[in-house]
Amino acid sequence: MAISPILLIALFSLIYGNYVIPIEATHHVYRTLESSSSYSSHHDQPYRTAYHFQPLKNWINDPNGPMRYGGLYHLFYQYNPKGAVWGNIVWAHSASKDLVNWTPLDHAIHPSQPSDIKGCWSGSATILPGGKPAILYTGIDPNNHQVQNIAIPKNMSDPLLREWKKSPKNPLMEPTVANKINASSFRDPTTSWLGKDGYWRVLIGSKVHRKGIAIMYKSKNFVDWFEAKHPLHSAEGTGMWECPDFFPVLNKNPLTIGLDTSVNGDDVRHVLKVSLDDTKHDHYLIGTYDTVKDVFVPDNGFENNQNVLRYDYGKYYASKTFFDDGKNRRILLGWANESSSVVDDVKKGWSGIHTIPRVIWLHKSGKQLVQWPVKELENLRMNPVNWPTKVIKGGELIPITGVNSVQADVEISFEVKDFGKAELLDKWIDPQILCSQKGASVKGGVGPFGLHVFASKGLQEYTAVFFRIFRYQHKNLVLMCSDQSRSSLNKENDMTTYGTFVDVDPLHEKLSLRTLIDHSVVESFGGEGRACITARVYPTLAIHDKALLYAFNNGNSAVKITRLNAWSMKKAKIN
Ligand code: FRU
Repeated sequence: MAISPILLIALFSLIYGNYVIPIEATHHVYRTLESSSSYSSHHDQPYRTAYHFQPLKNWINDPNGPMRYGGLYHLFYQYNPKGAVWGNIVWAHSASKDLVNWTPLDHAIHPSQPSDIKGCWSGSATILPGGKPAILYTGIDPNNHQVQNIAIPKNMSDPLLREWKKSPKNPLMEPTVANKINASSFRDPTTSWLGKDGYWRVLIGSKVHRKGIAIMYKSKNFVDWFEAKHPLHSAEGTGMWECPDFFPVLNKNPLTIGLDTSVNGDDVRHVLKVSLDDTKHDHYLIGTYDTVKDVFVPDNGFENNQNVLRYDYGKYYASKTFFDDGKNRRILLGWANESSSVVDDVKKGWSGIHTIPRVIWLHKSGKQLVQWPVKELENLRMNPVNWPTKVIKGGELIPITGVNSVQADVEISFEVKDFGKAELLDKWIDPQILCSQKGASVKGGVGPFGLHVFASKGLQEYTAVFFRIFRYQHKNLVLMCSDQSRSSLNKENDMTTYGTFVDVDPLHEKLSLRTLIDHSVVESFGGEGRACITARVYPTLAIHDKALLYAFNNGNSAVKITRLNAWSMKKAKIN
């Protein structure tokens, strides 16, 4: 079914008129669009992903309650069953054996009680002793107050956990006159952890004026909760903290081993992640969880540095981790929203994807986390292309042929020998700004070199993922960019360029880049997972078999490609 011209006109007038209602919960509300689905599988759908998680149609946002139960992975997510914009939010549910192929199941949690009648918002799962999962989630009550509810499986012997029952005791936590919690800033409970004192603890995202807060609640029995005397952590000037996540990471070899959420001890550091509603970025702090004071003490807090670390420097939000006890690893899931216009989203009938599940661990420096796509993704690889070592001269563009350029996994490593021509950076500058000033087409000294993906013949369209090396304070400074400025001839898209510095020393290490290309997503991992950038792009020419893939070098110095392995990717079974 094609979208009718009347609906389109209505759409334009709604969006460009003033019928966009921003609500406290970060998402725009388009009242007349939220219940009008126009998805058609008969449309040409060049942007639907083949191996990144997305439902068959409609709007999707945050991953919720991920867990492993009965040997299966469960993913719930914020979903609008009726339209391609945010609204009517339920917990949709899929299960998987490998985090790559998924079986969709019936919605697990939908509005049914006063405590969630206006929406079932984000939350987390906790596996209780004895292996019983419990979900805590935010419900919107008839007064539009945000409250916290519990749901448990109806039938524990169903490995698919298809049905969930809510407690008649809901809500378990609510804003009251006494606790002075702001009823429109009280949401997104974390996975709970058990202290040595026998109390469960959970964090709820909140704010007071401009101060972001991780409110802590405690409970002996997981049903009766009381607010702790003070929050686990807070920071002035950061605004609302959505979707907090708090978890331990191992600080000794092998660092990649994940820890269950309640684990603490000498070889353990803690991570607090918050999704900042103001900036729409997921920031994390590494620090110590002081169990005596019951507070989190970051090594570098928000107050020391406004540019606190991020999981991903592109389009990435509302992420959540869980401990995978099958493979002893911690897995990170995140949401990548569209960069297209709402009109286009409604036309294509869907909006939002999840990034590839990533294993997450502490880097050996202790200063940052490392992320890498789960190994299982490699089962989708086929038709490998391997290059012998190759020098790529300044100005050169080399086609990477033999792979499906819209559905690929590419690993490339560069060796730089000559740093003499590196551009001098005399003062620190925000890397994202640096990337937009010095995009892929701006000739440099050492770099830009990297990949052109979704490139059209003649390069009217391309997305460039690349490195550029600067000389800064007598050291080499590596910039990684994802430049979308020429990604599409359709200028309605958000084509912001993204960037970050990568903590790699190119004198002693090769510069590696892995890029997952999937129709409208470019998910890149630089420096073996030390920097991630996810971009959403919508080329008009470089689609289907018209898309090309290149390695390029637009610097003055030649660099050596020491490795290029690329694969076409099979389609995952997701819907
Ligand atoms: C984050 C968020 C959460 C909220 C949910 C509503 O994207 O705004 O804070 O619970 O989405 O869908």
